[in-house]
Amino acid sequence: MELLQQCIQEKGKVIDGHILKVDRFLNHQVDPMIMKAVGEAFADEFKDKGITKIVTIESSGIAPAVMTGLILNVPVIFARKKQSLTLQDDLLTAEVYSYTKKEANHIYLSGAFLSDKDRVLIIDDFLAKGEAALGLIRLVEQSQADVAGIGIVIEKSFQEGREKLNKLGYHICSLARIASLHENRIEFVNEDKG
Ligand code: G4P
Ligand code: NA
Ligand code: NA
Repeated sequence: MELLQQCIQEKGKVIDGHILKVDRFLNHQVDPMIMKAVGEAFADEFKDKGITKIVTIESSGIAPAVMTGLILNVPVIFARKKQSLTLQDDLLTAEVYSYTKKEANHIYLSGAFLSDKDRVLIIDDFLAKGEAALGLIRLVEQSQADVAGIGIVIEKSFQEGREKLNKLGYHICSLARIASLHENRIEFVNEDKG
């Protein structure tokens, strides 16, 4: 997605050759125009998949997920990282391992919003090692709903998440694919060369 790549190139900052800071439009300050274009791109990719619900995780997945839900005209459910007082009925939970923090955390979703009739599009801001996406897949599958696709705003293609999800056979759409952040330069995957 050309607009997103330009935005990442102009506004992104590389930290330590492997972290991409995008808090000017995605992770802290949110640019609604960019998020609208992101939503349109996901909606276009998945429009014929019979999507009935979108599932994401707080906090940075919510903006792109809501924009996509607006266009596909389906509800958006965000998994929580803490079990809130009001989240008690039909509680679904999955463990997500964090490599940065070296600890396993739980994520939570109310099963009340998903059923075996749902076809779910999972959306997240980043795909790195794939642990968050795998956790979301496990939550959705506990509810007997189908995972019909996975939409990622920024994929770090040099980490193993994409390959893990590919092996499981999911339809994945990453709007920007980062080949390398070496020497603090942002290089995208050249789609022509595969
Ligand atoms: P890990 O895969 O490296 O172990 O990371 P961890 O699960 O601890 O996730 C840490 C957060 O960092 C996640 O967001 C994840 O999406 C994000 N992340 C991974 N790589 C990058 C990157 O290069 N740049 C940015 N900006 N984020 C990255 P989160 O903690 O769930 O945050 P949020 O959704 O509340 O913003
Ligand atoms: Na994040
Ligand atoms: Na995230």
